[in-house]
Amino acid sequence: MSDEQIKVEMKDQKKVESKVLAICVNRRYSDKPSCGGRGSIKIADALEAGISERKLNIKVDRIICFGMCTQGPSMRLVPNGDFFRQMKLEDVPKLLDQLAEADKTVPD
Ligand code: FES
Repeated sequence: MSDEQIKVEMKDQKKVESKVLAICVNRRYSDKPSCGGRGSIKIADALEAGISERKLNIKVDRIICFGMCTQGPSMRLVPNGDFFRQMKLEDVPKLLDQLAEADKTVPD
């Protein structure tokens, strides 16, 4: 995920007023793609640690499948946020920076 992609998507997120980041951790033990099979569990762990460390008022909700399995790891601010697709562990610090900005803009 590029910096520009994160910025564009997070700009839209500020309108959502969401405090929940849903991340798919579905793992399939077959040839079918799955977010868990592509590293989403480690991404969720890193996001939870970073959110806790930064004391952000955002909860990570581990879910099973958005139906976007070929584009995973997938996540979104729920209920109405845009999707983040093809996330990688190295994208987490930049995403946390953007979440911190979004957290400042939404009411509790
Ligand atoms: S396995 Fe993650 S969206 Fe389906």
